Amino acid sequence: MAETNALPLHIGIIMDGNGRWAARRALPRSAGHREGARAVQRTIEAASELGIKYITLYAFSTENWSRPASEIDTLMHLLEKTLDEYQQSAHKRDWRILISGERDRLPAGILAKMDALVRATAENKGISINLALNYGARQELAHAVNRLMKEGLTAVTPQDISRRLYQPEIPDPELIIRTSGEERLSNFLLWQAAYSEFYFTPVLWPDFNADELKKALEAYRARKRRFGGI
Ligand code: FPP
Repeated sequence: MAETNALPLHIGIIMDGNGRWAARRALPRSAGHREGARAVQRTIEAASELGIKYITLYAFSTENWSRPASEIDTLMHLLEKTLDEYQQSAHKRDWRILISGERDRLPAGILAKMDALVRATAENKGISINLALNYGARQELAHAVNRLMKEGLTAVTPQDISRRLYQPEIPDPELIIRTSGEERLSNFLLWQAAYSEFYFTPVLWPDFNADELKKALEAYRARKRRFGGI
């Protein structure tokens, strides 16, 4: 039976277009990423106020290592700054931080801050912010399969795989948003997106805000989700 949609419990966002936002203003790409980091804050605050329980943000993909070293530095620096801000405000905001991704290649300082933040916010009851960091969905599936093999399973169910993903307790996202007009998943939540609704907007990520989020939620509400039924 078709389900009518209220508010999604979980939204995933592919934040795209920082570079183009900067290019249109003849600014360096780093300026686009800085503005993108501000959009991250705005969007989390708006999602939290609207009552979204989980938000997964594609902050750095396993493929992003192929960018020039200076751009990777900018992204790591912004990330570290964001982790510091969350750590300082963890007690007054009720946000819970989760991380999805591989640990290899991430600088030791970032790993330490990530771990401290996850620990410090573990009991928080507000929005869960899942940062997809050094994340690739195929890598996540390989990670799940490797765990299954170590456990010695010889036959697996879809649930067995779901339970061995990076964040097994998070429900699948009902809605995935991608900004900047690109319409593809780019190795984001491949398994979890089996029944997700997709919302693509030409808005570049640094311009994303509460109104744009509300538009996406409005579009989601109008969709008929049938889950293979009629
Ligand atoms: C895409 O823009 C965006 C990224 C590479 C990752 C997202 C990063 C941020 C929003 C900044 C910091 C994030 C956090 C969590 C603090 P692009 O460079 O691919 O844009 P383009 O396609 O226009 O070149």
